[in-house]
Amino acid sequence: MHPVVRYSEQALRSADQAIGFLMQQAVENADCISLAAGLVDEHSLPVDLTRDTLQHLLQESAAGRKLLQYGTTQGPEPLRRIFRTWLAGLEQRSDGLADVPLSRFFLTTGSQQLLSLIVQALFNPGDICLVAAPTYFVFLGVLQAAGATTIPVQSDEHGMRPEALQQALQALEHSGQLPRVRLIYVVSDFENPSGVSISAERRPELLRLARAYSRDSRIFLLEDSAYRELRYDGDPPPSIWSFDHDQDTVILAQTFSKSFSPGIRVGLGVLPQSLVKAVSDLKGNEDFGSAHLNQHIVAATLKNGTYQQHVERVRNSYREKRDAMLRAADREFAGIPGVTWFRPAGGMYVWMRLPETIETGFHSALFRQATQTDKVMYVPGELCYPQDWPQRPRNEMRLSFGVQSVTGIEEGIRRLANAVRAVMAEQPAGGGAISA
Ligand SMILES: Cc1ncc(COP(=O)(O)O)c(C=O)c1O
Repeated sequence: MHPVVRYSEQALRSADQAIGFLMQQAVENADCISLAAGLVDEHSLPVDLTRDTLQHLLQESAAGRKLLQYGTTQGPEPLRRIFRTWLAGLEQRSDGLADVPLSRFFLTTGSQQLLSLIVQALFNPGDICLVAAPTYFVFLGVLQAAGATTIPVQSDEHGMRPEALQQALQALEHSGQLPRVRLIYVVSDFENPSGVSISAERRPELLRLARAYSRDSRIFLLEDSAYRELRYDGDPPPSIWSFDHDQDTVILAQTFSKSFSPGIRVGLGVLPQSLVKAVSDLKGNEDFGSAHLNQHIVAATLKNGTYQQHVERVRNSYREKRDAMLRAADREFAGIPGVTWFRPAGGMYVWMRLPETIETGFHSALFRQATQTDKVMYVPGELCYPQDWPQRPRNEMRLSFGVQSVTGIEEGIRRLANAVRAVMAEQPAGGGAISA
């Protein structure tokens, strides 16, 4: 007799995650050109800069020992000060954000840890989160694990639609569920997966709605700015966070994973004061401080300006790859009816929509054709919607230009177009040409 392992409800709710399926598919289809992997470009990683910085940080033994010691739960104050100065630069604030106390800053293990801590701090099973449709699928997994109810809100090429958000909030109010709404989650710049940024006009509007519907209980707005620094065209709009003059509604999540190194895994959160204690208590239980040495590495490069130089190089390299993917899509999909895609001004992803009759999921003819015959892999778009949403579109895909070289991107898109053509040719007459 073997005793049974009794898993927690949270572990059971975590079982069917998109990220798990995707990792498995990546392993099973290792011979494919991957337009699926959301990893950063290997060649952009700052090996020399990190080596030089470490050498400098550890040169003097006594100082080095301090960095190899534990830090503090939120990250040491002098470091948080350096990160605040960096954020002031992004926010174009000449006062260094001096009015935002350092007590509201958290250095985290990537921004993912902050996303997870916020959900732990706010959600009981059945509590509600409103998300853009589509959205970052790992966050959907975090919500699912917490037993949250996730409500998709319609988005377009300017991001989450305020009218749709208002409608959703109104409907929740009418059904008596408004008190269960805890959070609105948006990726404000070059969203993973859609590549869309929320327009400057919509940013304050989304915040206004979060406030207007915060009646007895506060509805927070989590602004995930993971791709903010990977901008290839145009001027940055102000963050949603910058409109939160009372500083009580917006939680800002930043990361150095995309712009510097995910292996170092340093994230930065700025929280409304009302969340500081709860998140600090939870983080205390989890790790009582993220990797101290790593925080010093990033801080040192921010302080001496080598970080900014690095980001400029990264931007130039990704811009070239983004352009290569868009050019290849223009060329290879030109003759295929009903295929559309969004041209992102930054980030790592191109979101492509096929005719409605062409499904893209793991069990679809297209996924089989792409991975088994044409040897190219993508992320099925349906993973980026709540799993229990019956109306979720099934004819979309996320294409990443992060990891592949320009040649790999061109060949990957050529193969993908071949796969789409092959599946369309198999369809009964008249089935394939619904324009998207
Ligand atoms: C939108 C978004 N948010 C957050 C993250 C988490 O990244 P990290 O924990 O490395 O900061 C990612 C990673 O892909 C992402 O795409």
